[in-house]
Amino acid sequence: MEMRMRMILCLLVIISIIGCVHGDENESFRKRPTIVKTVKGTKMCVKDWECNKLSKFCCNLTITDYLDTDQFELLFTKRNSPVAHAVGFWDYGSFIRAAALYQPLGFGTTGGKKMQMKEIAAFFGHVGSKTSCGYGVATGGPLAYGLCYNKEMSPSQDYCDDYFKLTYPCTPGARYYGRGALPIYWNYNYGAIGEALKLNLLDHPEYIEQNATMAFQAAIWRWMNPMKKGQPSAHDAFVGNWKPTKNDTLSKRLPGFGTTMNILYGDGVCGQGDVDAMNNIVSHYMYYLDLMGVGREEAGPHEVLNCAEQKPFNPTAAPAAAS
Ligand SMILES: *[C@@H]1O[C@H](CO)[C@@H](O)[C@H](O)[C@H]1NC(C)=O
Ligand SMILES: *[C@@H]1O[C@H](CO)[C@@H](O)[C@H](O)[C@H]1NC(C)=O
Ligand SMILES: *[C@@H]1O[C@H](CO)[C@@H](O)[C@H](O)[C@H]1NC(C)=O
Ligand SMILES: *[C@@H]1O[C@H](CO)[C@@H](O)[C@H](O)[C@H]1NC(C)=O
Repeated sequence: MEMRMRMILCLLVIISIIGCVHGDENESFRKRPTIVKTVKGTKMCVKDWECNKLSKFCCNLTITDYLDTDQFELLFTKRNSPVAHAVGFWDYGSFIRAAALYQPLGFGTTGGKKMQMKEIAAFFGHVGSKTSCGYGVATGGPLAYGLCYNKEMSPSQDYCDDYFKLTYPCTPGARYYGRGALPIYWNYNYGAIGEALKLNLLDHPEYIEQNATMAFQAAIWRWMNPMKKGQPSAHDAFVGNWKPTKNDTLSKRLPGFGTTMNILYGDGVCGQGDVDAMNNIVSHYMYYLDLMGVGREEAGPHEVLNCAEQKPFNPTAAPAAAS
């Protein structure tokens, strides 16, 4: 009898030690209490390292409150499969660390829980479709292969545009081929993003394929900033901060997912009717909405969800400066 008691006690001790180790693993994602202040009548908060600037957005849920590591695994379940090209590169921690820079500015923290989750699904919709190695009959379906690349595999050129030699000169030997979660191409884009993130990407574009946190940071920066002054960012168009002008309405540009594609890709994807390039991005978005438990029925009507009939903000004939 006594022996048995002792064994049970021992077992309990072992279980609690395992519990402790498990807890330590998650220590870096544990949040300290929120700091709350009222500034000029607006409630402002700081939420530990994840939302670490006094901001109204930090009073809401933060991304780790509604997206955990298991869900991230579910969304990008095949990214480390044998056919993938960036095995071991992308992970939950790098996404959360990158997002921490932008949560005080509203990334994944705007609106209520549903809008917040929809924004992350939308952002991932772009990321997943741009980094997928899925194809029609792939195991698990073609949409399960997001984050399977972190760079262009066989670049046909170095993407050095001499027009920008004064602002963003190419570094001899550096190659500005596609890299990242929303792939960056060209010296002027590496230059502009490097400037914004205070990273020397003109000399070291390879950082983006070596460091997943930087790769996600660059992608979230692109999502949070307009291509051109006076235009909305994908974030503003998606969460409804942006109010369309009469010209926008005539051009069929409405707040929502469709317009985020217009901003990021213009006539490469939008205003072309019902094309695969557009449908693939939309399919990824709806797939992530389902997996996150929001449900694709929350994606909204056709004219909000796609950009088949939209006129591009920046037609290719007149390219945006740093786009
Ligand atoms: C954190 O905790 C969850 C469950 O509570 C677990 O699945 C996960 O592996 C832990 N570790 C990290 C690093 O997230
Ligand atoms: C915080 O969430 C609430 C709903 O939960 C929402 O009404 C409010 O607009 C959000 N705050 C910000 C700054 O987006
Ligand atoms: C990756 O980039 C982040 C953000 O710039 C930085 O904090 C981190 O130290 C980098 N990791 C490595 C291994 O260089
Ligand atoms: C209206 O949109 C068209 C193309 O969609 C553009 O060429 C024009 O400059 C816009 N006008 C204004 C006032 O923004």
